[in-house]
Amino acid sequence: MSQFDCAKATSYLKDYPKKDGLSVQQLIDSSNFGGLTYNDFLILPGLINFPASQVSIEAKLTKKITLKAPFVSSPMDTVTESEMAIHMALLGGIGILHHNCTPEEQAEMVKKVKKYENGFINDPIVIGPDFTVADVRKMKKDLGFSSYPVTVDGKVGGKLVGIITSRDIQFIDDDSLKVETVMTKDLITAKKGISLSEGNELLRSSKKGKLPIVDDNGNLVSLISLTDLLKNQEYPNASKSFDSKQLLCGAAIGTIDSDRVRLEKLVDAGLDVVVIDSSNGSSVFQLDMIKWIKSTYPHLQVIAGNVVTREQAALLIEAGADGLRIGMGSGSICITQEVMACGRPQGTAVYNVTEFANKFGVPCMADGGIGNIGHITKALALGASTVMMGGLLAGTSETPGDYFYRDGKRLKVYRGMGSIDAMQQTATNANASTSRYFSESDKVLVAQGVSGSVVDKGSITKFVPYLYNGLQHSLQDIGVKSLDELRKNTDNGDVRFEFRTASAQLEGGVHGLHSYEKRLHN
Ligand code: IMP
Repeated sequence: MSQFDCAKATSYLKDYPKKDGLSVQQLIDSSNFGGLTYNDFLILPGLINFPASQVSIEAKLTKKITLKAPFVSSPMDTVTESEMAIHMALLGGIGILHHNCTPEEQAEMVKKVKKYENGFINDPIVIGPDFTVADVRKMKKDLGFSSYPVTVDGKVGGKLVGIITSRDIQFIDDDSLKVETVMTKDLITAKKGISLSEGNELLRSSKKGKLPIVDDNGNLVSLISLTDLLKNQEYPNASKSFDSKQLLCGAAIGTIDSDRVRLEKLVDAGLDVVVIDSSNGSSVFQLDMIKWIKSTYPHLQVIAGNVVTREQAALLIEAGADGLRIGMGSGSICITQEVMACGRPQGTAVYNVTEFANKFGVPCMADGGIGNIGHITKALALGASTVMMGGLLAGTSETPGDYFYRDGKRLKVYRGMGSIDAMQQTATNANASTSRYFSESDKVLVAQGVSGSVVDKGSITKFVPYLYNGLQHSLQDIGVKSLDELRKNTDNGDVRFEFRTASAQLEGGVHGLHSYEKRLHN
């Protein structure tokens, strides 16, 4: 008979000299063989006494911006343009628009994000009254649809005079007829400010396919389309500004003089948060830039970086940064550590910077090397508030660029901003990529990244909810109900960690199978 009483098993735990596993501090202190990456450790499971759906993953992006989900898309020219930024914000995160383009192009992207209203088409294709029936037939062939609002000047913002649909031209034999002679002039329209559900109702009752939205002067501002409404989803987690209810938008700039002019355009377009994009954030150029931005645009949130040491972080915090971006050399397309001999394994970088920055209430974003949901949880457990992703989101349909086929696979380009390809593109736009690496005046470009391709991942409207659910389940396994609780219980030593040997990593992956298919979500 055992001398131990099963009914009191938990009470024997107090007789043990130490808790199972390591505290985060012990994990970092005892990794004296070198810096830690996310794969080098695991988090021990805790008690589950709540459903995963109850877990809150709300997180601070900066001192003043809180997101429903800690997900940020990277300012890379193969990751974040307006489509990505719109959908990241709709799904609870935020997108940071890249700056490997002219300031005007970047400002236009900001406008698209800020003007976006779920279900409303803000830049519909519009035609003028002078268009011919032949033009409309050709547009139908090229674009796949044949209903267009007609405005006096053929532009959005012009006075709405009619709408042309396939029904209007169906029985017309004379293709040279002007649109104004055949279009529908008896219009059902709605006033700017109408809600999506009111618009929906109007479409239903009027049995029309398109509902033009006009301002007080009858000028066309947007359009609601029945086909889009049917596809339309609700986005309860959307990241929006309190006052305007517009989607939140971030954009990156560099640290050279012309970036001040660029920023002015972005702010005019409605920017909420600027990321100062540099591979090494501790430069006098960046310190000056932060101070200038904070004095010129006090309400604009500034994320500074990148940093990997607390000494670098201290400089940026003192200069006025509202958030920090952590990572040097951990990106999936990055060769900085190899070429520059500079950088830091990401786990150690995240712990050391956040342990310092969190004392000042400056939230940090773990940037680079996020390859799966587990990495996200680990970055947050080490102290980061949010994660920035490039490679994990690359290949989704919201990224810029077209798909192509190679070896029977559907692929998209994903490239480092320090790749020769990206830096050469910059040369024509005199900014961005080269300035990120302090190389704008170099005759010989030294690559710090590669250009490659990634497999089609489908739409982020499925992929980000997968990350969201996965993170909730991961926190449930750890036994915490929110990211705040994760932070608190990590700091007080309740959340426990363990090193992962090379063989433990093999054991933790799929092994011993002849073949298998890795499907991540349905
Ligand atoms: P990923 O999520 O692991 O693919 O890493 C993306 C991050 O890598 C970006 O957010 C940048 O911080 C960083 N990055 C982007 N381009 C380069 C490059 O060319 N060299 C080094 N790092 C890069």
